[in-house]
Amino acid sequence: MPKLIVETREGEVREVSGEAGFSVMEVIRDNGFDELLALCGGCCSCATCHVHVDADFADRLPAMSEDEDDLLDSSSDRDATSRLACQIPFTDALDGLRVKIAAED
Ligand code: FES
Repeated sequence: MPKLIVETREGEVREVSGEAGFSVMEVIRDNGFDELLALCGGCCSCATCHVHVDADFADRLPAMSEDEDDLLDSSSDRDATSRLACQIPFTDALDGLRVKIAAED
């Protein structure tokens, strides 16, 4: 199973396993990171699954949709590495991906 490295807002880093076929948001949530609220359940309508993604993986991520882009604009913590974790399918190609949970808005 591919590995995902998650950094919390407090700087705690934990490596977890995720099943391919789930989204990065689901992998984070299912491993007990309560600070990733994911309030809309992955419908791309809340932005509470905002993460910063390791720039080394940028070219392996799916393109950002207009909806995701608009939602991220509502976050004061947005930068060039920002993505919504529910919009990234977790695959074997993302093994070792590192994400940091974004600040709460
Ligand atoms: S869980 Fe709501 S936008 Fe990702």
